[in-house]
Amino acid sequence: MPMVVIEDLVSLRRCLAPWRRSGRSIALVPTMGNLHAGHLALVREARGVADHTLVSIFVNPLQFGPSEDFGSYPRTLAQDRASLAAEGADLLFAPPVRTVYPHGYREQTRVEVPGLSDILCGASRPGHFVGVATVVCKLLNMAQPDVVIFGEKDFQQLLVIRRMVEDLCLPVEVRGLATVREPDGLAMSSRNGYLSPAERARAPALYRALCRAGDGLRAGLTAGEVESEGAKALADDGLGPDYFRVCRASDLQAVTTGDRELVVLAAAYLGKARLIDNLRVSLTPYNPVATVEKVD
Ligand code: PAF
Repeated sequence: MPMVVIEDLVSLRRCLAPWRRSGRSIALVPTMGNLHAGHLALVREARGVADHTLVSIFVNPLQFGPSEDFGSYPRTLAQDRASLAAEGADLLFAPPVRTVYPHGYREQTRVEVPGLSDILCGASRPGHFVGVATVVCKLLNMAQPDVVIFGEKDFQQLLVIRRMVEDLCLPVEVRGLATVREPDGLAMSSRNGYLSPAERARAPALYRALCRAGDGLRAGLTAGEVESEGAKALADDGLGPDYFRVCRASDLQAVTTGDRELVVLAAAYLGKARLIDNLRVSLTPYNPVATVEKVD
């Protein structure tokens, strides 16, 4: 079946209604476009878990700060459309801003997940997660999918969305998918395109620092020690660290004695790009080294 492309809400609902009436399941992959292999992995996952795959492309003005890159964010709709059709997506929803925010995005009713939205990326990008939660809530209400799928590179975003879905009793399953990386470890991201060749060569330092942090935690270093070493390593490699933090994976709170499921999260500036990445670390009393992913 050829992929359908839709820009408005009435047509979206008209297309989804017969699928739903006949009991077929729908998976939604929300994106801002400029699709890379990481996004396409989400689409493949969607095809595996549901009968129909819907991908949205919407560069959401509400989640960008006034001095951020909303204007210059890469928009590559024709190319994205071809990649999605080749990947077997059933429906591309690519609404203009007036469809998502008919009264203007500044006047939009908002969804806020307090606490989780105010730390880490939320502290550096005030209002960002209100923008994310609001648009994802709207997309879920528009499409009413059975499953919604996100990449784990945006680990804090995933937790914000999980909490929103739980708090608002939204009837959807939220799935997170492992980060897809370049061969040198750099997490795939649309913002990698902002890097000059020299910056691109330095960028894998972010994941290297996370892997070293994982090793340090397994070897018994404290969260504080790992955090200061990580921030220093980034600066030594020519990145501008924003944060480098070890948190409890379930809620991003500070680690306390006995916590075993951890996540190391980092954000750093490199040229025009702000890169983020994270590494899950599971410490078990029996096999403390078994579960940390690492590149060679
Ligand atoms: O991760 C993204 O691309 C965006 O934050 C999302 C989830 C599509 C909301 O605009």
